[in-house]
Amino acid sequence: MTDLLNFDNSIGTARDNRSKPVHDWYRFTAGFSYKLVDKIIKGEELAKGDTIYECFAGCGTTLVSAQNQGIKAIGNEGQELLFDVIRAKLNWNVDKNKILNELENIKTNLRTNQKYDYHKLMISLYSEKDLSQLYSIKEQVFSISELDIMLFLKLALTQTLHKSSIHPISVPYISRNKTIRKDLSAFEIFEKIVFKMLDDIDKIKIVKQSSKIYLHDSRTKNENIFDNSCTISITSPPYLNNLDYGEVSKVCSHFFGLTNSWNDITEKVRKKLVTGATTHFKNKEFNIDNYKNTEFYYLNSSIVEPLFSLTEKIRLESYKRVGKKRFDILVLYYFEDMFKVLKEMRRIISANGKAYLVLGDSAPYGIFIDTTKVLGEIALSVGFKKYKIIKLRERGTKWKLRFRHNLKLSENLLILE
Ligand SMILES: C[S@@+](CC[C@H](N)C(=O)[O-])C[C@H]1O[C@@H](n2cnc3c(N)ncnc32)[C@H](O)[C@@H]1O
Repeated sequence: MTDLLNFDNSIGTARDNRSKPVHDWYRFTAGFSYKLVDKIIKGEELAKGDTIYECFAGCGTTLVSAQNQGIKAIGNEGQELLFDVIRAKLNWNVDKNKILNELENIKTNLRTNQKYDYHKLMISLYSEKDLSQLYSIKEQVFSISELDIMLFLKLALTQTLHKSSIHPISVPYISRNKTIRKDLSAFEIFEKIVFKMLDDIDKIKIVKQSSKIYLHDSRTKNENIFDNSCTISITSPPYLNNLDYGEVSKVCSHFFGLTNSWNDITEKVRKKLVTGATTHFKNKEFNIDNYKNTEFYYLNSSIVEPLFSLTEKIRLESYKRVGKKRFDILVLYYFEDMFKVLKEMRRIISANGKAYLVLGDSAPYGIFIDTTKVLGEIALSVGFKKYKIIKLRERGTKWKLRFRHNLKLSENLLILE
């Protein structure tokens, strides 16, 4: 077994993925390094009979890495946009000639002067010429009847959205104070991306699909994944109070018509995800008595009671702050949601299996929440026998400035057995 306790400090970030074929087909700031997955596969000596479970698939790092090594992996992703991204990233058998034919059709039928019904967010991010090209490409891609061809080109178009905008849109929020200079039109960028993706596929040796993704909320039972069917889990849950995933993907989800407004993002995206930001809920809907009536509280009261004293401090602090954000409620919802995820994970992982979770701790309004440790304790309540925490790096200077605290936040690896 290789040394599984020594990690490069950027292993929890997506930096390595930016220059790795297939992993770089969708730029996702919230991903971890494909090297983490490779290292765990090697260190745990996983073989053909093993299956990895990934409950927060994101842009599919775990699933792509596993497939690359010929190892089976199965996962859930709650966002439709990313579900399609992953499906495209896992299909290495796609017919190159059909893609090239469709690309040629799109070029021939490209509308450059037609006015489409543009979403107003799009108007603020793309030139007029690019807008009509992007919408024309979309119209044509959506009319392709073969699913795998459609998904491949849709992913190329998704990337084109990131690469043809006037302001950077994936860092993770739109940086309107920065402007990108570019020489290529949206279609030329799209074409270049398609060629690059086809080139990557040509280099892949293993083409058999060994990974499978479901559009599913991991807080609930996925009937397609059987009890004890996976040996190991490699995943990275949303960090408490870090990213609002609905907000991060809104350019793409508005463009593809999955959402149209803030309310849509809440109803169609945020509600299907673990509560990770205060935008997920309405403060007045939180009821402490109902909270104490949950299975989570019943099994974890010794963990939750000390948390209540911290959340009370956060609540009092929130009244003094301009945004008055109720991070106290967020903390409570977050751990309840993660309890459900860990319970489902325990059902799926075999008796002598393990789970690796990349996690960040948090300090809303300067009050430290030892997220990794709390989740380790909650894991014991769903049947895991022990947990270990490995610190990967320090993080979160941005939050330090914003919420004016001097606490050192870290990114950790939580290992459950
Ligand atoms: C930290 S990211 C995971 C990144 C992933 N490890 C990668 O490298 O691409 C968390 C992901 O979990 C998804 N997610 C959040 N809550 C979910 C839920 N309840 N069920 C399924 N997916 C969820 C988010 O949409 C996001 O893509």
